[in-house]
Amino acid sequence: MEKISLSEVHLNGDDQFMLKPENGISEKALKEINEGLHQLLGETLKLMNLSQMVHWNFRGNHFMSIHEFTQSQYENMFEAVDVIAERIRALGALVDGNITTLCANSKIEEIPKDLSSERMIAHLLRAHRQVIKTLRRLRTLASDHTDEGTVDLCVQRTLFHEKSAWILRSLIAK
Ligand SMILES: [Fe+2]
Repeated sequence: MEKISLSEVHLNGDDQFMLKPENGISEKALKEINEGLHQLLGETLKLMNLSQMVHWNFRGNHFMSIHEFTQSQYENMFEAVDVIAERIRALGALVDGNITTLCANSKIEEIPKDLSSERMIAHLLRAHRQVIKTLRRLRTLASDHTDEGTVDLCVQRTLFHEKSAWILRSLIAK
């Protein structure tokens, strides 16, 4: 078979569609979904960092179980960040991976390092609830535009955050 060098490939005007996702979703909808995915990316990164903060600074009776639980949490979110960013690329946009911009757009607050153990757990719980809210909005938007790939991603992430919220609620329940 004849070898083709990529440098010899020139797309003419009619071929430019090859550089777009051409998935039947309108440009306007793709822009809105892209914004939602960036918010999800920023909030996932932020919550990953919060989980690390609790992993490091937690003090109290259940230290080992919280230490191990928060590790499994930030490891899950580390992988999720890549999945979310690659979904942005699959929909044709570039990823604005600047950590300052991403976190500035997230609605999750910093966690003070000297919080009591219960307040640390409550802070994580609030952050998971915020991500669940962001996911619900994005899932509805993606579903309205039959973007099933993003819907599936949102469902998978919602399962994770809802289970995490249940575990955290159980830890502070009296
Ligand atoms: Fe560690």
